[in-house]
Amino acid sequence: MISPDLIRILKLLGLHDAHKNFVEITTKKVGEECGFSQQTASRKLKELVDLELLEVRKSGKRMAVKLTKRGVDLLKREFIDYQKIFELNEYVEITGEVVSGLGEGKYYIMKEGYYRQIKEKLFFEPYPGTLNIRVYPKDIHKVETLKNLPGICIKGFVSEGRTFGNVKAFLCTINGKDGAVIIPERTHYTDIIEVIAEKNLREELNLEDGTPVEVVVFL
Ligand code: CDP
Repeated sequence: MISPDLIRILKLLGLHDAHKNFVEITTKKVGEECGFSQQTASRKLKELVDLELLEVRKSGKRMAVKLTKRGVDLLKREFIDYQKIFELNEYVEITGEVVSGLGEGKYYIMKEGYYRQIKEKLFFEPYPGTLNIRVYPKDIHKVETLKNLPGICIKGFVSEGRTFGNVKAFLCTINGKDGAVIIPERTHYTDIIEVIAEKNLREELNLEDGTPVEVVVFL
């Protein structure tokens, strides 16, 4: 079992790119960044070398280090552990049914300020409009979760004397078709989510008011 201190040093060195190349670093810096004294850092670097997790080259007072394949593999295993921890939160499934809105979606999506950013940040040209979905009560807490996450920021702007607020977007699929959920930053409580997509989803998916849909939202 490798001590957490050693993993910490390997991680730090990785952040300095030492998993790819030899990088010059001092024991003082390693100590400072990991919260050890210089002497402790020096001793731990030696332990890493003894365990064949690190290669060290010295030239005069200068030192360059590179993680060995074993060292990189060890960090990768750490990475996989973190993935396992966070994997559960990579997406949420929200179910609800299609409803009609007030016909305002088209106006907003077609505003140059939003349209351009949607193309740039979500990588599709949106169909002019939003598909409104009334979320089933059992999934409403998931919408609240989305409101508390950063998402992809579509910045607000002023146009013709009117202020258009920031909007958050999350890429998603709607019954398997790609799209994005968009949430105005200043939103009051609502059980409706709005989805945009490249195509008209009602036509593509044969949806009408009341059709149940499943939205998988990528966080
Ligand atoms: O507010 P409302 O949903 O009535 O209208 P809208 O946002 O202007 O969208 C126009 C129509 O296209 C509505 O029936 C939406 O449900 C639909 N729509 C769609 O099927 N797929 C999209 N990607 C966007 C809108």
